[in-house]
Amino acid sequence: MPDSSRHGFNHAVDTIALMQTERQLIQEWSATALFWDKHREIIRQLFAPVTDALVEDAQIGAGHTVLDIATGQGEPALSLAALVGPEGKVFGIDPVPEMVAAAARAADKLGFHNTQFEVAFADHLPYPNDTFDAVVSRFGVMFISSPVDAVREILRVLKPGRKLSMAVWHSAETNPFLSVLQRVVEKYSASPPVAENAPGAFRYARPGKLRDIFVEADAAAPTERLLQFRIKAPISVDDFWTLRCEMSEKLRELVAKLSAQQLADFKSEALEVLGLYSTDSGMSFPAEVLIVTGTKSIPV
Ligand SMILES: C[S@@+](CC[C@H](N)C(=O)[O-])C[C@H]1O[C@@H](n2cnc3c(N)ncnc32)[C@H](O)[C@@H]1O
Repeated sequence: MPDSSRHGFNHAVDTIALMQTERQLIQEWSATALFWDKHREIIRQLFAPVTDALVEDAQIGAGHTVLDIATGQGEPALSLAALVGPEGKVFGIDPVPEMVAAAARAADKLGFHNTQFEVAFADHLPYPNDTFDAVVSRFGVMFISSPVDAVREILRVLKPGRKLSMAVWHSAETNPFLSVLQRVVEKYSASPPVAENAPGAFRYARPGKLRDIFVEADAAAPTERLLQFRIKAPISVDDFWTLRCEMSEKLRELVAKLSAQQLADFKSEALEVLGLYSTDSGMSFPAEVLIVTGTKSIPV
C-alpha cells in the first residue's frame, strides 16, 4: 500500500509537496545548527528523560552498535556513546552538513573515539543490511517526507530481532515548552493553518499515527507508550527566552522583523507566560512524548 493511502492525502501531489517542504526545512535547519550547537548542553539536559526512554525501549547496552537517525547536533548519539562504551559504536546521520559537522566536533571535544557522523537522509542509509543492535531517533521522524520508506530502510540496517525506537511530541496542549510561546507569536504573526500531515513538531501527536507507519513498513510488534516527564533547565526565564528564540528559525525571523516597540511588547508578554514555569531551580515544564518501538522480524 502506498505511503499515503491510509493517511488520507493524495499520494503523488502530497509527496511532491512534502519533499519541497523537507528541502525548505533543511535550509532552515542549516541556519539553526549554530544555535543548537551553542546550546547543546542545555538541550541535552532538557531532553535527557526522552533519551533514557529510547535507551530502555530500544534495549541499548554496553558494547552495542547503535544508529541515531536525524541526530542534528549529535543527540542522543553522544549520550549513547558514553553508554555503549569503548567496545560499542554509535553512528549518527542527518541531511544537514552543518549539524553533522557540529556533532563530529562535539565528539572530538568530548574525547569519544566510538562515534561516526555522516550526512544522509533517513530513507537512504549508507550502511549494509543487518548492521545495528538498535536504532533510535529523537524528534526527527516528523520532518521526514517519506516516513514509511525511512522506517523500511532503518529495518534493513537493523539486525533481525533488534529494535527501532522513535520519540515524537504528543499534543500541543500537553507540551507548553513548545506551545506557550506559539500562542504569543500568533498575536504578532498570523500563521497559516497547518495541514495534518505537514512536517512539524506535532505531525505525530495523534496516538497511533506513527505506530501505523511502523505497521505499514512491516515492523514486527509495534508498540507505543506515553512518556510523561518534566523538561527542566537550570536557567532563568530571560535565558530561556533567548534559548527558545535562538533554537527556532521561525522565532528568529519574527524577532528580526519586529519594530523595537513590538519586540519589547512581544518579549514582555512572552516572559509573563514563561514565568508560569519558572521555579527556584530554574525552568520546569510538564511534557508528554510518545515513544514508538518496532522490531525487525527474524526470518523463518
Ligand atoms: C528537532 S531536530 C532533532 C535533533 C536531535 N535528534 C535532538 O533530538 O536534539 C530534527 C532533525 O531532523 C533532521 N532531518 C530533517 N529531515 C530529515 C531526513 N529526511 N532524514 C534524517 N534527518 C532529517 C534535521 O536536519 C534536524 O537536524
